[in-house]
Amino acid sequence: MTEYIIDIHAHILPGIDDGSTNLEESAQMLDKAFNQGIHTIIATPHFKRKQNLDQLKALINDLIKEAKKIDPDFRIFLGQELLYFDSLVDYLKEGKALTLANSRYVLVEFMPDVIYNNLYQWVRKILMAGYLPVIAHVERYHCLKKEGRLQELISIGCYLQMNYRSVQGNIFDANARWCKKALINQYIHFLSTDMHHINYRTPVIDKSMDWLKRNLNAEYLSAITSQNANSIIENQVLR
Ligand SMILES: [Fe+2]
Repeated sequence: MTEYIIDIHAHILPGIDDGSTNLEESAQMLDKAFNQGIHTIIATPHFKRKQNLDQLKALINDLIKEAKKIDPDFRIFLGQELLYFDSLVDYLKEGKALTLANSRYVLVEFMPDVIYNNLYQWVRKILMAGYLPVIAHVERYHCLKKEGRLQELISIGCYLQMNYRSVQGNIFDANARWCKKALINQYIHFLSTDMHHINYRTPVIDKSMDWLKRNLNAEYLSAITSQNANSIIENQVLR
């Protein structure tokens, strides 16, 4: 069921953002991820206005080579995590900001205290421009904790990504409780590692996977760990 996990949110490109420090750390992260069943990764460095796309492409080629050393079928793609800003859509259209694996899907994040009306208008703007917004770590935004908001965003065409590690936490952890409920209600489209380092915000998912396997039906778990992300790789619209 979950042998071929696809990770769509990973700061594994070396030396480019607050993620992996160098190619050696990236290689360790790849190895750790692969050993837990992650066979495809979309590397999503944070967008910077003055980024050098040729540099990103060179780094992704280095990463692809490292992945092939681990397994010839280990697939790596390039994407970005985009903190929303006013001219984001223009940057996307001009190819100066990247979608996920060259698809129409865009991994977008906001400040944690974003106001719902703003978030709503901004994802609408992305949708109107013909892109498919995937809201990164949906559990991070206070405004989305209000009942009905996830459903509203889904109804207008947004996709929701949650981090694996966010389901960890006991009954007293309000955020973990909220995450588990959102998963049981099947509001989440993608689970990802959002890995940053080998020892901090790591690629480790097995502890979370224990809970997921015990509490979600197998078909839905397969969708959010693998099948839905495959639609991104193949640039097909989900649902
Ligand atoms: Fe991230």
